[in-house]
Amino acid sequence: MAGVSTSGPAIETILLEERRYEPPPDFAAQANATPDIYDQDFEQFWETEGRERVTWFQDFEKLYEWELPYAKWYVGGQLNVTYNCVDRHVEAGNGDKVAYHWEGEPEDERRTITFADLQRDVVRFANALKKLGVGKGTPVGIYMGMVPELPVAMLACARLGAPHTVVFGGFSADSLSGRLNDMECELLITQNEGLRNGAAVPLKQNADEALDDSPGVKQAIVYRRTGGDVQMKDGRDLWWHDVVEGESDDPSSCPCEPMDAEDLLYLLYTSGTTAKPKGIVHTTAGYLVGVATTHHYIFDIKPDSVYWCAADIGWVTGHSYIVYGPLCNGTTGVIYEGVPNYPDKDRWWQIIERYKVDILYTAPTAIRTHMKWGPEYAEKHDLSSLRLLGTVGEPINPEAWVWYREHIGADRTPVVDTWWQTETGMILINPLPGVTTLKPGSATKPFPGIDAAVYDEQGNEVGPGGGGYLVLRRPWPAMLRGIYKDDERYRETYWSRFEGVYFAGDGARIDEDGDFWLLGRVDDVMNVSGHRISTIEVESALVDHQKVAEAAVCGRKDERTGQAIVAYVTLKGGDEGSIDMLEELRNHVATKIGPIAKPANIVFTPELPKTRSGKIMRRLLRDVAENRALGDTTTLADPAVVEEIKERASTESAQED
Ligand code: PRX
Repeated sequence: MAGVSTSGPAIETILLEERRYEPPPDFAAQANATPDIYDQDFEQFWETEGRERVTWFQDFEKLYEWELPYAKWYVGGQLNVTYNCVDRHVEAGNGDKVAYHWEGEPEDERRTITFADLQRDVVRFANALKKLGVGKGTPVGIYMGMVPELPVAMLACARLGAPHTVVFGGFSADSLSGRLNDMECELLITQNEGLRNGAAVPLKQNADEALDDSPGVKQAIVYRRTGGDVQMKDGRDLWWHDVVEGESDDPSSCPCEPMDAEDLLYLLYTSGTTAKPKGIVHTTAGYLVGVATTHHYIFDIKPDSVYWCAADIGWVTGHSYIVYGPLCNGTTGVIYEGVPNYPDKDRWWQIIERYKVDILYTAPTAIRTHMKWGPEYAEKHDLSSLRLLGTVGEPINPEAWVWYREHIGADRTPVVDTWWQTETGMILINPLPGVTTLKPGSATKPFPGIDAAVYDEQGNEVGPGGGGYLVLRRPWPAMLRGIYKDDERYRETYWSRFEGVYFAGDGARIDEDGDFWLLGRVDDVMNVSGHRISTIEVESALVDHQKVAEAAVCGRKDERTGQAIVAYVTLKGGDEGSIDMLEELRNHVATKIGPIAKPANIVFTPELPKTRSGKIMRRLLRDVAENRALGDTTTLADPAVVEEIKERASTESAQED
């Protein structure tokens, strides 16, 4: 494991960062969270929220059970996630309220979906799934773009009690089939094509390839998004519009399955420190209470809010804060299908103006991209509806934080930097707008009921001013319930670094006020544009190429994407490499994992720096990638190797997307 750096540029920035933003009094006066929220006892807090946020078919008997490292929450309770996210809002008379404003990437494609529409769509599709044999416990894969049918598919599964795994539409066929096989999915829901940056994304074609390697998937339902032709395999593939034809949209024709609090809701695969992604397990009640509660307080959601989380539903941010949290709270949301600069760089601001969005939640990489394009695109639009801004996914540098507040938030809106992970299910470290004094670059305080701390190498808690490893010392409702079918890896990854506490894999520092500053990953996981990618996953994709003998991968700092991927590659037979080879390898990684994992640079080298026992010294490669003075090289089998790599790295032309 890489050591955590408690000195260096990140820390210097923090120490120099003295800007403070008090809660605006008018915001504080109307905020959902008041300062006394932190005074509540942890059990009392989650007990109250559990009763308030969610409608139960059967009340829970016990708040939680904790047998380290497995928790159960709201024990004995029964409920249905879709009932909570859809049906109960219609029953309460809010069927005409907009659930989603959807914008396709082509500017003239828009749909308004009310809660009543959503209910009809979900019921019809759930009836169709039922006819195909999907029921409680049937694992379903979903591989789609940002169309309303994606949440419809998720909610139809949840209505029937069928656990889903959503695979981000940017992942390759290989990544898709690996996930489908691991979960043993029996059915796949996909679409013919996605739309991105004016071009078609061949989702069905990728799915076809994936299904060749996933024989357990007996059926595929294909939503027709574009006019593009795809092959439909007889006996396996069915069109979405055909299967829903004639199905009833009356909710009583497809009642919501009563689920146990701890029944599986979904798996979401995420990169770890090996080549095989981990199936993170999320269950029903604790997850729903956790995401609804955090969404309510952190985003200060009001009945008339128009909330936009600009993430992709294929990542955990989209699961928790586009679909399950907001819908549970009956919130009006925005879903946008495409890229921020289609057809021009002001598309996001146009959307905010059109729907009078009051809350925007996005990633630092997106903010830095807008920063690079310049504030004039935002200036063209009336953004005065915005009340609150949020960020997630990677550490935010104070400059980007301040730019976001000034140019998007008119120097008036609070900015909430929210720290969490696929594993945590819900936000865990964040300011509460209206309560917390904000500091650019700091996620500030643990959410009420969350016990976060920073430990040193030996597992001692570091006090104010100290740096080390971020840990969580008490269970929380939306926490992962394990890694699917891999108890050993679950214990090893999260619970073995320090006795009795959850190890997040992040470095952090606590300042004199007890505020948390997140410093990035301390393991072999990179964070590129807020996407989590394992160095070893990229290495195995490279080594999979027939000409590659060996590869080592690391992240280097990148101004816009946070980190960029650098690969050091030794080719077979002494091949020196070429620009063509470089492109071929980048494309190979895209095919094996997805375009997000393409290395920004590839350095060809006759040898990799290794210890005498043959272990690749990634630490040195990171030093080379970041142009730093080399750390200790005394354990190297051949110190000349690293000098050679340095030489090559400096002459190699950077190859960016
Ligand atoms: O390193 C942290 C970083 O993203 C990792 C989690 O990635 P993932 O599971 O893909 O979920 C991303 C969206 C929740 C964390 O281990 N991270 C996430 N949010 C922040 C962050 N780093 C710093 N500040 C944040 N606000």
